[in-house]
Formats: sequence, C-alpha cells, structure tokens
Amino acid sequence: MAIQVLVLHGPNLNLLGSREPEVYGRFTLTDINNLLSEQAEAAEAAVQFFQSNHEGALIDAIHEARGWADGILINPGALTHYSYALRDALAAVALPAVEVHLSNVQARESFRHQSVITAVCLGQISGFGWRSYQLGLQVLLQTIQEKRA
Ligand code: DQA
Repeated sequence: MAIQVLVLHGPNLNLLGSREPEVYGRFTLTDINNLLSEQAEAAEAAVQFFQSNHEGALIDAIHEARGWADGILINPGALTHYSYALRDALAAVALPAVEVHLSNVQARESFRHQSVITAVCLGQISGFGWRSYQLGLQVLLQTIQEKRA
C-alpha cells in the first residue's frame, strides 16, 4: 500500500511568501505543498496537508493521523520552542516524524536554539528554506520504506 504522510504546518506559516521573506523565502505555503505533492507522487506516496495557528488543532490532527498516516512531517513554527503538549502528542501516537524549519534556527535568537520537539522525532532539518521540507520528506519516506522491507 502507498505510504501516507501527514504534513503539518504550525502557526504563522500560512503567511509564507510575504512573511519576513529575507528569513523564510518567497515561496508560499501552497508552493511548498505543491512541490511536496510532486515529490510524493514520484515516490508513489501520498501526502495530506494541514496548517493551523492553533496548538490544539495541530494536536487533534496528530491524534487523527494515528488512524491513517505512516509518518508525520512537521514544521511546528514557534511551538517548536515551548510546546510540551505538541511533543506529547507526537510521542503518544508514536508515528515516525521529522521536524523541519525553513530558517537555520541555531543561527537566530537564543530562544529558537531549543526544540522540545526534536527528541520525539527521527531528527531535525533546519536552514535550507523550502528544501528543508523536501529533505525531510525524503528521509521520512526512506525510513518508512526501510521499515516495511
Ligand atoms: C520556523 C522557525 C521558528 O523559530 C519560527 O517561529 C517559525 C518558523 C522555520 O521554519 O524556520 O515560525 O519554524
């Protein structure tokens, strides 16, 4: 059966394209989602997208993913740095997950240096703009494939 991935975008990522383009680039969220759809299709996988500015809605989406998804690609936005609830949700569903960031969070303000999410993910990819998502999806699909083999 085709691999199914939930792609989650956290707070303020709906504004990509116009939001601090010098930090986050000029691609809109739709641009990024379209690229990920193409990438998934080429790998005979399927992706579903969800963006929310609300922590609880993201948590609900993670819980629901238990019923259908094989893995989660997540850019938690600022929730990365403090949301124990999001971390607990990822730990609870125990699906393989990859954390991605457009900007290099280690090169920015000190509050961005900490992630409370990475420890419940396979790993974190940060600093490659929209390509962080591409790299994240690639490693997630490969990991799921390897587990199935
Ligand atoms: C971000 C980095 C976060 O620190 C920030 O709050 C975001 C975007 C990124 O993709 O670079 O909203 O996750």
